[in-house]
Amino acid sequence: MFSKRIACIGAGYVGGPTMAVIAMKCPQYKVDVVDVSEARIKAWQTDDLPIYEPGLLDVVKAARGRNLFFSTDIRAAIRESEIIFVSVNTPTKTFGEGAGKAADLQYWEKVAREILHESASPKIVVEKSTLPVKTAQTMENILNANGKKVPFEVISNPEFLAEGTAIRDLLEPDRVLIGSRETPTGLKARQEIVDIYANWVPPERILASNIWSAELSKLVANAFLAQRISSINSISALCEKTDASVLEVSRAVGMDSRIGGRFLNASVGFGGSCFRKDILNLVYICEYYGLEEPARYWESVLRMNEYQEARFVRNMIREMFNTIVGKRIALFGFAFKADTSDTRESPAIYVARKLMDEKAQVAVTDPKALENARIDLAGYGENLDLVEDPYEAARGAHAVAVMTEWELYRALDWEKIFQSMEKPAFLFDGRNLLDHERLFRIGFNVYPLGKSPLKHF
Ligand code: UDX
Ligand code: UDX
Repeated sequence: MFSKRIACIGAGYVGGPTMAVIAMKCPQYKVDVVDVSEARIKAWQTDDLPIYEPGLLDVVKAARGRNLFFSTDIRAAIRESEIIFVSVNTPTKTFGEGAGKAADLQYWEKVAREILHESASPKIVVEKSTLPVKTAQTMENILNANGKKVPFEVISNPEFLAEGTAIRDLLEPDRVLIGSRETPTGLKARQEIVDIYANWVPPERILASNIWSAELSKLVANAFLAQRISSINSISALCEKTDASVLEVSRAVGMDSRIGGRFLNASVGFGGSCFRKDILNLVYICEYYGLEEPARYWESVLRMNEYQEARFVRNMIREMFNTIVGKRIALFGFAFKADTSDTRESPAIYVARKLMDEKAQVAVTDPKALENARIDLAGYGENLDLVEDPYEAARGAHAVAVMTEWELYRALDWEKIFQSMEKPAFLFDGRNLLDHERLFRIGFNVYPLGKSPLKHF
């Protein structure tokens, strides 16, 4: 018999890997992962998982059918579990009050009502999705508005995993944050969740807090990470004007142990499902409480990101003699970062669209994200070419632009690529991934980020 029965509603990038790791590490628990999407659930039941994440398949295989189950029967999973993680998506609202900023909580609320409807025994409801501060309050209000007198406790356990390293992040987290009400029943529920992670996470890394701190910490962690990228990206623009190298500056700055060296890579911009959404959320909350200056401060992190994307494209057009009409341009990478198929908020979407709006012929190549690219760029028809093979993408192109830091691009035969391209051949490295000196020697005009370009004319 299983000692705990856990359900997770939402089998996406967060719910799927998190539950797979819990199930693998805790064979004594039963873990049911449920989702409204039949296609997603079917894929979780095969070896062709719905998301690409290094190491994920092995973890799933270790537990699937033993104590890890995937299904669309959300109601049964609610009924049969004591602990329910909710990991449905919370996109930015596109309509009404707070459109473009506030989180759209309709799926969360729907799930809360489903939990209420199906529950005949006490439940601990765990917020896994990133949510605006005080969402737990709303959830409690909904769950406690029941005539059934079923006790519910709401816990906030934000997920800090990053895509591409999800399994490692889950196995060896910097910290696990568990927030609860500080009432006797709240503290007891918190302990239940602590006990799950204690199966593999050292106790000093399991952090307890009040529920509002936990909810806010997730937004703040993402805002701080994004802010570092915007900070270094702002400096990359300055480096290009001053013959400084952003690589040297970020190394020098990052060696200050108070600052630290990670998350200081200049890029064409940050993407992903979280940074933009969470900062918009933070801005919205600040505004809600009348905190104008904090709102404007965090908003500027997003403005800098948009500036960096726009600057990258402007630079490409200017350097290619101010016209790209009819020119083939190869985008190397489309995922928002390496080692994922995810393209949500990828800067490559913006870059590809801008180039095609300027009537360029864009060839997109990516080892994992072409299917998503097809969806993101639907409607561009003739101007768009999606190709598996990077050599094929570059053939006949005037320029290659690196959008994603896939390791495999380093190892390509760049001589061969150069030979197959139109001349002069341009290379715009939006990730500072490649060996710029070498490419210059091959014959490319090379445009790194935050460093002087290497040009033959
Ligand atoms: C997660 C978090 O939940 C989100 O808050 C965070 O900010 C980003 O990461 P993620 O796992 O990436 O979301 O989202 P997604 O891959 O879209 O998965 C959500 C799943 O929930 C989808 O499979 C969707 O079908 C499912 N869902 C959604 C339900 O099962 N029921 C619903 O009512 C809505
Ligand atoms: C992020 C947070 O890291 C994670 O803790 C949270 O749970 C979800 O949001 P994720 O979006 O998966 O994770 O990826 P992350 O590695 O943070 O990268 C986000 C974006 O920033 C990517 O587009 C990446 O390429 C970019 N980035 C990252 C840079 O441009 N420079 C850097 O130095 C680091």
